Amino acid sequence: MKNHYHIPSPEAYTEACHQATKSPHDFWDTIARENFEWMKPWDTVLEYDLSIPEVTWFKGAKLNITVNCIDRHLATRGSKTALLFEPNDPSKPCEPISYQALYTRVCKMANVLKGKGIQKGDRVCLYLPMIPELAIAVLACARIGAVHSVVFAGFSSTALATRINDCDCKMVITSDGSYRGAKTIDLKSIVDAALLDCKGVETVLIVQRIASEITLVAHRDYWMEPLLALASEVCAPEIMDAEDPLFILYTSGSTGKPKGMVHTTAGYMVYSAFSFQNVFQYQEQDVYWCTADIGWVTGHSYIVYGPLANGATSLMFEGVPTYPDAGRFWEVIAKHKVNQFYTAPTAIRALAKESLALVEKHDLSSLKVLGTVGEPINEEAWHWYDDHIGKNNAPIVDTWWQTETGGIMITSLPGITKAIPTYATKAMPGIRLALMDDTGQELTHPKAQGKLCISYPWPSMARSIYGNHKRYKETYFSAFKNFYFTGDGALRDADGNYRITGRVDDVIIVSGHNLGTAPIEDAINQHPLVAESAVVGFPHHIKGTALYGYVSLKNAAGKNEDELRLEINDIISLEIGPIAKLNKIQFTQGLPKTRSGKIMRRILRKIAQKEIDNLGDISTLLNPEVVQHIINNAL
Ligand code: PRX
Repeated sequence: MKNHYHIPSPEAYTEACHQATKSPHDFWDTIARENFEWMKPWDTVLEYDLSIPEVTWFKGAKLNITVNCIDRHLATRGSKTALLFEPNDPSKPCEPISYQALYTRVCKMANVLKGKGIQKGDRVCLYLPMIPELAIAVLACARIGAVHSVVFAGFSSTALATRINDCDCKMVITSDGSYRGAKTIDLKSIVDAALLDCKGVETVLIVQRIASEITLVAHRDYWMEPLLALASEVCAPEIMDAEDPLFILYTSGSTGKPKGMVHTTAGYMVYSAFSFQNVFQYQEQDVYWCTADIGWVTGHSYIVYGPLANGATSLMFEGVPTYPDAGRFWEVIAKHKVNQFYTAPTAIRALAKESLALVEKHDLSSLKVLGTVGEPINEEAWHWYDDHIGKNNAPIVDTWWQTETGGIMITSLPGITKAIPTYATKAMPGIRLALMDDTGQELTHPKAQGKLCISYPWPSMARSIYGNHKRYKETYFSAFKNFYFTGDGALRDADGNYRITGRVDDVIIVSGHNLGTAPIEDAINQHPLVAESAVVGFPHHIKGTALYGYVSLKNAAGKNEDELRLEINDIISLEIGPIAKLNKIQFTQGLPKTRSGKIMRRILRKIAQKEIDNLGDISTLLNPEVVQHIINNAL
């Protein structure tokens, strides 16, 4: 099978951009027709109305994404490794899973799900570590038309319960536990705690990973292995409509409740596959490694669906970059002769602080492409990555995209378009970017800075927020009429290269993780001594941005501040997960407010970022005196 959508040269890139702009329907029609297997072709390529918003790609088409990710490769790539599993413990064997073996394992698990009553359209929550069964469970759901909702296994039981209930999952697939470096984590008891609040879950399937003793709840909990052993190896793919939901994935928003982004089948498949091929310039014998967790969108699109739709070998890593030492990434690259390596700036910054000897003892000459995602990469980290990992011989792709976009929107193409440190650079073919000013006007001058929008539908865009289309419209399509608003700011240079300047809403990107301030503040406010709180971001040398909490107390007489800090962070861990813990907590006598009572985060952000010379006019505040007090006690 040949990928007809491969863009191999600068000329082909220019031509693809031209075609996609001139006649987007023909452009995507050809890509979809020539590169995928369909059970029935589409009636129309694209219908849309962004005022509703409603977007339909490949209307009328029938397909199953797993046929495209697995079945169609069997004749030519049956023995090729599809997933290459590298366990947490480097002394344990890695596990190559061929396309043929993946087919069998996905069919078996799909039959187990069916046997437990899961049908097309049912939601299944996957709360699993980075083990092959996670990818297999994703595909098993897709095989039978169940909608998977993967929840990152670092989220707390409360966060898990919220996500399970929001989309009414009938089933949870988890494991007895997980390995993370030297630690083991008891996932099953987190699930048990979550399910106390989730009445709709009928079945829990448990994959054995750490061989720990767990308690099974009768008629609800089942070990996965014995069921798999009995399951048939054949499972016909469910016939799916192009716009049937494929998965729900939660992302933080400006309000407390996470948003269950709904992705549908055909458009997502087409775009994740097309973008994977071109952004990583994957070739048939390559070994590709994305270090993300499948609990995030990066893992969905660029560990599972995009690579497998291209018949690629996708490495799945269970562990952490610093175990058994901070050379683990480089060791794995050398061991498996990884050709494309895709990671997050926070990992690069953390590893750049370690001894170079940890890099230099490994042969990294297999690397052809380096990628980053999730947050802006600072110039220093970019050069370290380029010099020491790529040896100035593996182009860096700084890929900008979001859970909502389903696939990479802005990036350079390695060896094809120019990479510029700190710039994600250019839009992918077919992606129409726009910068808007505060009055809602599009900035048409080439050189501009504003709010980043996308002005035309693309195949992998999320179609809704589960159960709340109104919120979808308000969040993404109301700020600028007929534009999708990303929530990010960006600047564009005279050559049309984009540099992301960061979020312009109350979402903070910490170590590449998208965190809303509202749920963190809700958690802090649960402490009995807390009156109110505000969370902002401040620059951090490893995390990129870290969290600074301003907390005003009701009455803390006699309380030790450090103890209070620990208690507050414990609540955050419990409510959301350790990723949302605050780096700094400043106790205040009050929070600066407008006369209408709104907390002035802009001022708090500036103080946290040590930009106090530039606070703007504070005289109109309800309580200006509090600002000086906060400045005097800033951490
Ligand atoms: O602010 C942008 C930042 O991450 C946000 C999306 O987060 P999430 O939905 O969790 O998806 C992350 C993985 C795709 C964006 O709104 N972001 C993502 N990639 C970049 C980035 N910021 C700067 N440069 C990037 N390459």
